[in-house]
Amino acid sequence: MKYKTLYGVGVGPGAPDLLTLRAIRTLRRADVVVLPRSSPYGQSVAWEIVKSIVRKAPQQEHLFLTFPMSREPARHIDAWNLAFGKLGERIERGLSIAFATEGDPSLYSTFIYLQREAPLRWPGIKVEVVPGVSSIAAVPAVTGVPLADGLERIAIIPAGYGVDDLIDIFQRFDTTILMKIGSEMSNIFAALKETGLTDKAVYVSKATASQQRIVRDLRELTPERGDCFAMIIVSRKERTGVLAGDTPPEKVLDELSNGH
Ligand SMILES: C[S@@+](CC[C@H](N)C(=O)[O-])C[C@H]1O[C@@H](n2cnc3c(N)ncnc32)[C@H](O)[C@@H]1O
Repeated sequence: MKYKTLYGVGVGPGAPDLLTLRAIRTLRRADVVVLPRSSPYGQSVAWEIVKSIVRKAPQQEHLFLTFPMSREPARHIDAWNLAFGKLGERIERGLSIAFATEGDPSLYSTFIYLQREAPLRWPGIKVEVVPGVSSIAAVPAVTGVPLADGLERIAIIPAGYGVDDLIDIFQRFDTTILMKIGSEMSNIFAALKETGLTDKAVYVSKATASQQRIVRDLRELTPERGDCFAMIIVSRKERTGVLAGDTPPEKVLDELSNGH
């Protein structure tokens, strides 16, 4: 059986005009557009982004699949078994599938598991990733806080899975991106306080979407509550680029060549 290509399509961080041309073309051509959501009653963020651009034609199916946000492996296995059943039925009928993922499909996305499993379940299937604008690119854009300059180093941390080494990370990297912050807000605040970086952190929720919220003074936030689509960017801003700031270029070049 020759299967059609399975696409993982990045639909960007929220604003519909941040979808790429390739994403729009792939979503419009697919027989089935898969829209992940975290609860059968909740919204699909991917759907909110793509609903105005996908075909309303009856020959395209919009398939909502539920993947609960949980740390319990059993809940994920149940959800995936259900999803594989529904996807398999369509893949075996020779339908083309575009799995829409918020941001970019290669960063903390549900699609990654499917990308690994699909060739085992449907040998010979071609899996293609259509990259999207990740929240990692969107948050610096809306805050005006660059990710890195010159030789600066960046750490990307899924905070929701523990932040025991955060103080060390803050000290070792020029920029730290804290994703999936959920229940870890108070630990993050404590680590920022201890390292004296509270004023160098910015909180952003739903960057680029109509509900975007930017908080530049973290003291205004309630530590217990974290939006599921929020990120904290911490930029030490200690090193200037070769052409920026007050440091004379020869001193910056000297520091860089000495590995500082
Ligand atoms: C499951 S990960 C998905 C990341 C996505 N694949 C990407 O490339 O941005 C979800 C996390 O990404 C971050 N995130 C995603 N979209 C965001 C947005 N529009 N604004 C701020 N943070 C966002 C949040 O930290 C959220 O907890």
